[in-house]
Amino acid sequence: MLKLVVLISGTGSNLRALLEALRDGVHPSAGSGASAGPARRIDAEVVAIGADSEAANLALGDEFGIPTFVVRPRDYADRAAWGDALLERIESYGPDLTVLSGFMRLVPPRVVAALSPRLLNTHPAHLPEFPGAHAVRDALAAGARETGATMMIVDNGVDTGPIIEQVRVPIHPDDSEQTLHERIKVVERRLLVDTVAGIADGTINLEEITA
Ligand code: GAR
Repeated sequence: MLKLVVLISGTGSNLRALLEALRDGVHPSAGSGASAGPARRIDAEVVAIGADSEAANLALGDEFGIPTFVVRPRDYADRAAWGDALLERIESYGPDLTVLSGFMRLVPPRVVAALSPRLLNTHPAHLPEFPGAHAVRDALAAGARETGATMMIVDNGVDTGPIIEQVRVPIHPDDSEQTLHERIKVVERRLLVDTVAGIADGTINLEEITA
C-alpha cells in the first residue's frame, strides 16, 4: 500500500477528488460515465494532510478520517527552519510519496533533497509555459488560446522539475480566471488520480523519470 502525505493551502478540491478515488476506486477510462466498466481500487492511502495555514480546508481530514497538521512559516525564524519542521512532520508519517496539491509555497532545498523524486506537484498550466503562483491569470493575460495542466516531480526551481504527465486545456473567449481554472482542475484531478494509481501499481517509476 502506497502511503501518501498531501499538502494543501486552499480548498483542496483536487485532494478531495483523490480521496474519493481512493475510497471508491476508479474506472478504467478515468471515471467517465456509467459505461466505463467496474471500478478498480488504487493500492494507496493518504496517511496525513498537511497545510501551511489554518485557512486551508483541513475539514477534509475529519470527513475522510485522516490526521491533519499545520506548519506555519510565521512560527519559525526563517524559511529553512520552517522547511525542517515541515519535513519532520511529513516524515513522522513515513510516506512513500508526498504530494503538493495546491500548496502555494516553494519548499526549501533540504525538503526537496530529502523527498524528491518522491515529491510531486500539480500545476495549472502546460509547463514550461506559465510557471509560478498565478498560472491561470498569466495564461489569460498573455492572450493564449490554450493552456493546460501538469503533474511533475519537484526540484529546487519554480515549476522546473521533471514532468510526469501533462494535458492541454482550451481557453474560451469568454473565460474568466475562475471558469478557466475550474476547467483546468477537472483535468488536474484526473492527472493526480492517474499518477497516484500509476505509482501505486508500478507503471510510473519516479526514479526512472529523474535518471
Ligand atoms: C490547483 O489548480 C493547483 O494546480 C494549483 O492550485 C490549485 C489548487 O486547487 N497549484 C498551484 O498553482 C501551485 N503553483 P484546490 O485547492 O481546489 O485543489
